[in-house]
Amino acid sequence: MSDISGAGTSRAVRRLRDLPAPPGEWPLLGHMTRVRPLAVHRQFEDWARTLGTPYRLRLGPTAVVVLDDVELYHRVVRERPQRWTRNGRILPVTREMGLDGLFSVEGDEWAAQRRLIMQSLNASHFRGFFPTLHAVTQRLHRRWHRAALRGETLEMDDELMRYTVDVTSALAFGEDPNTIERDGDRIQQHLAAIFPMLMKRVLLPWPVWHWLRLPADRRLERDLAAVHAYVGDVIERARARRRDEPRAPGEPPRHVLEAMLDACDAPGSEFTQTMVHANVLTLLLAGEDTTAHSLAWTLPFLAADPERQARLHREATGVLADSAVAPSLDVVRELDSFEALATEATRMRPVVAFLILDAIGDEQLGDLEVPAGTRVIFLMRPQATDPAHFSDPQEFRPERWIDAAARGSGVHEPRAHNQFGAGPRVCPGRHLAAVEMRLVLSMLLRNFEIELACDPSGIDEVCAFTVMPSRMPVRLRVRDGARAPD
Ligand code: HEM
Repeated sequence: MSDISGAGTSRAVRRLRDLPAPPGEWPLLGHMTRVRPLAVHRQFEDWARTLGTPYRLRLGPTAVVVLDDVELYHRVVRERPQRWTRNGRILPVTREMGLDGLFSVEGDEWAAQRRLIMQSLNASHFRGFFPTLHAVTQRLHRRWHRAALRGETLEMDDELMRYTVDVTSALAFGEDPNTIERDGDRIQQHLAAIFPMLMKRVLLPWPVWHWLRLPADRRLERDLAAVHAYVGDVIERARARRRDEPRAPGEPPRHVLEAMLDACDAPGSEFTQTMVHANVLTLLLAGEDTTAHSLAWTLPFLAADPERQARLHREATGVLADSAVAPSLDVVRELDSFEALATEATRMRPVVAFLILDAIGDEQLGDLEVPAGTRVIFLMRPQATDPAHFSDPQEFRPERWIDAAARGSGVHEPRAHNQFGAGPRVCPGRHLAAVEMRLVLSMLLRNFEIELACDPSGIDEVCAFTVMPSRMPVRLRVRDGARAPD
């Protein structure tokens, strides 16, 4: 048994059965009947409040322990992939859907894919990509400027997903689908249907859809078929470009997909065409929702505080000068306050609300014995909103992330807010996400006033793998002195 309590002790005094558990545990099903997939994060958090942590659950045959301890979180994530895997349901469910890329795989397969994708998503590549990032942000500015002049209400989560799909595709696959300027059938509509079903299937202890296919399962098949056809075309086009516009000898791959195709075509390679396909889809899914929702969650906080908007408008105008959109990567580097908005919003509205891992062998977490095969769920919001970690944790204070003076003598424990995860499996897209946050939020506050077009209490959190707003209707007003779109 491994002791990860850090104190070098092996004083296990508690077993899972000693922990409190929510009421309503059924034979065979355990607590399954209490779990509503699209609100499951709220359910886990409510139980943490009433029972304290750690507490135990049973989901079908699987024993689960729920924790919110910062130190244990950091220890466990560092022990991957050797001692902990992702939730054991992830790989079979995503493999069946053809989504078993970097996020799902384990062990040596994970290590090889991770190296490849990390090299290609490295922040040092961004300078070359900046003109594309800039052009896509200008395009979003044009769309919002038009909508503001017409007095239209924008569903901002949808708007932002257009942006993130265009950016991810341009950077990772070398092509620009321009969903910002296109209407009608868009790939986002099919992608959006996948996450809620993935969430439901991962939580189910058995593949019931193998025996009972409901209309939602048939719809999923249609959405998956559309997405796979799209990804197949993206790969074909990348292969054609690679053939027709070959790189100079020694020139590195131009994007992640080209690096994957090189690996796939290398003699004796274990990196197959199926893996390329699964990873294109993984990057598209992982890059789209997370960044869009993180940006969307800033909007109610900004709309509620016109003074903050005015301050940020002045700051954006000072940094961007005559431009509507940050004109260079050097200017982007000066936009810390704008990234801090999303960091703070996700502290209170985490886009990834929990991390689920399975113990490969017998483990010890603090004073708790955790047998092999136990599922461990780390809750993110209780850590990030604990007054022991952040002073006035229920107040939206982005300044706390940039200005030590703003924190005063208050507590500030950044290790308790892990929006991108931590350890060897930390999000490889975090640098890209940070650039997107800075570009979009500075453009927004430089040029527009933001007004929420609904009662904020009517915006629910929907846990479809990532936590998204149920709606985010916003009206924008063009500010005096704003730059007209280029
Ligand atoms: C604000 C935006 C984003 C957030 C909040 C976010 C969050 C996360 C989190 C929490 C994880 C899991 C870490 C863990 O297991 O400990 C993750 C993994 C991952 N993310 Fe992101 N992410 C974001 C943007 C992106 C982007 C833009 C991409 C790519 C274009 C991306 C690609 C991935 C991939 C491939 C993984 C799996 C890594 C692995 O298992 O080794 N993410 N992300």
